[in-house]
Amino acid sequence: MFPVRRLRRLRYNATLRDMLADVKITQDDLIAPLFVREGQGVQNAIVSMPGQVQFSVDTALDAVRRWVDKGLRAVLLFGIPDEKDSAGSGAWDASAAVQRLAAEIKRACGEMLVITDVCLCEYTDHGHCGAVARRPDGADDVDNDTTLGLLARTAVSHARAGADVVAPSAMMDGQVAAIRQALDEGGFQTVAIMSYAVKFASHMYGPFRDAAESPPQFGDRRTYQMDFRAPRQSGPEADLDIAEGADIVMVKPAATYLDVIASVRREVDVPLAAYHVSGEFAMLKAAAAAGWLDEKAAAMEVTAAIKRAGADLVITYYAEQLAEWL
Ligand code: PBG
Ligand code: ZN
Repeated sequence: MFPVRRLRRLRYNATLRDMLADVKITQDDLIAPLFVREGQGVQNAIVSMPGQVQFSVDTALDAVRRWVDKGLRAVLLFGIPDEKDSAGSGAWDASAAVQRLAAEIKRACGEMLVITDVCLCEYTDHGHCGAVARRPDGADDVDNDTTLGLLARTAVSHARAGADVVAPSAMMDGQVAAIRQALDEGGFQTVAIMSYAVKFASHMYGPFRDAAESPPQFGDRRTYQMDFRAPRQSGPEADLDIAEGADIVMVKPAATYLDVIASVRREVDVPLAAYHVSGEFAMLKAAAAAGWLDEKAAAMEVTAAIKRAGADLVITYYAEQLAEWL
């Protein structure tokens, strides 16, 4: 009891504070998302995500070289095709932007870990994450089992291009097993799967859908992404993906789902990633632009909170700035 016990004694000295910090952010924790589209010399600003751009393969490669110089180790690639169709066939096109960029990064900066988002929503004209079919009740919806083969095909094409890790984000039941089997049959036993295992139907994805030009043209994603009012489904989602072969599982969003990160962390013993998503990023950027908070301090605090909750890896649009600030 006071005055024998004074908790402030551990806080007076800045060096001691650093030594006692349990949570430390390093470049090794960070994954930088990257949007790539067709064309040359493209650097289209994404208005709702200040500082983020849509690249073409050439400009993306320059950015990756810059990120390597800043100590970043991993990128997560999203592709934006010129043409979309109902099946999303651009997703497994060997000459599409993601595949070409993956190959170029591995050639030019082999040490950069290339992770690819495996989903169809950027490639389908209806904007859903899988093949749409009419249900018995007459409603159009994403058909789970026909989507599995399309996702597997996409993952194999990414692996063939040089991806080190594939990251399925469509939230189809059985997608990890289908991808693992297809990768193994294709000879890609060493390609890892980082599964978006615990992914909620979130309004925090708004800016991303502008960036990736992938909003659903009808309905929403609530028949496949999780309901944020039902966090107990997180355990089974993570467990099933691990049983199906996920090497790393992810919780998404991150900053507004710290409780979920903490509970998944307690439940699984594989590495855990968390995705600080576009809307969470945009809120910080907007408040910083208005002069309402110190951007660097706030971004570091939010990233630390995600790690403190239990994430080993943080996917964040702040990756480059964090790398500069560390
Ligand atoms: C697509 C996908 C989304 C995000 C990552 N992959 C959007 C969605 O599910 O609608 C969101 C990323 C972000 O908001 O930063 N499957
Ligand atoms: Zn999708």
